[in-house]
Amino acid sequence: MGPAEGIDGTALRVRVPAKLNLFLAVRGRRPDGYHELVTVFQSVSLYDHLRVALLGLPGRRHHPAARRRMRVELWADPPVPQGRDNLALRAALRLGERSGIVPLEGSADRDTVRTIIDLDKRIPMTAGMAGGSADAAGALVALNRLWSCGMAGDQLRHIGAELGSDVPFCITGGTALGAGRGTDITPVLSRGPFHWLICPDPQPLPTPDVFRAWDRYARPTGVGPDEVLYALRSTDPARLAAALHNELQESAFRLRPELRVRRQALLDAGALAVVLAGSGPTLLALVADAAAAEALAYAVARWCPGAVVASSPAGGPELMVEVGTSDTGPLLRTLE
Ligand code: C5P
Repeated sequence: MGPAEGIDGTALRVRVPAKLNLFLAVRGRRPDGYHELVTVFQSVSLYDHLRVALLGLPGRRHHPAARRRMRVELWADPPVPQGRDNLALRAALRLGERSGIVPLEGSADRDTVRTIIDLDKRIPMTAGMAGGSADAAGALVALNRLWSCGMAGDQLRHIGAELGSDVPFCITGGTALGAGRGTDITPVLSRGPFHWLICPDPQPLPTPDVFRAWDRYARPTGVGPDEVLYALRSTDPARLAAALHNELQESAFRLRPELRVRRQALLDAGALAVVLAGSGPTLLALVADAAAAEALAYAVARWCPGAVVASSPAGGPELMVEVGTSDTGPLLRTLE
């Protein structure tokens, strides 16, 4: 499929999965204040949905002069962050600036072409699952196509890394080894599927607080990701359960001791293993199969009503074009 000019219609949809860290080792604090990580990322079947649309005067929207000035609007319901606090909008503005488009945020005159980013948020926020980064990744992938920016994956990942450490992986999806700040991504093999009960926590836990707690209380262990990588090739959930590793977990538990109690309760209810999602506070319960995930959700429903059944690996951002409408909604065709 060629650039946006070739697309029959002016709206694209993208769904972007959340991420899991199946292995997360902190090697130390860097001079720039970030932490050097070795991590194994895997995308999971829990998605945010974005719709991006160009609105302009008929016949004008592809005119080069019209495209140079572009008003960009985010449509999302609170508590989703608004304006520049939202990573999807920041991603759009950054991509526009790098592509010779002058993105405008405020009111526009009647001739200005508008881009709408309509965000349907389903990934829990401030939860350790890269929800904001997934939205940035979705905006970059979809607008790269809608605006005909012509950027390659590496260029999008480079812009993504400026927005947040998890964005490059969210652009890639699947399973990958992450190094550096978490932004150096190398895809790795995973079979699967693996089945999870994802248990969000109503009280957010900011990532910087958890890294600060790590600085205070923890030291690098030198543990490597090999066991997780073998387990991912084996398809054996028990082997993966034994290998799951997150060196931010103890720091998060120091800040929020009740998470340790919830983790034990999930194990007592039948999980093969339970690990903190990234910097938390979400807990990830690995189970043997889809039926076990449903059974665990039922068993913990009283104290974890927001728990979600999911499987991994999921893919990367999935781009779809609207090719018409039917009684049940838009007709979509997958682009990539
Ligand atoms: O990159 P991102 O904006 O997602 O990071 C959020 C915060 O998490 C950073 O401000 C930093 O405090 C912490 N962080 C870190 N080392 C990393 C990634 C994140 O210290 N590799």
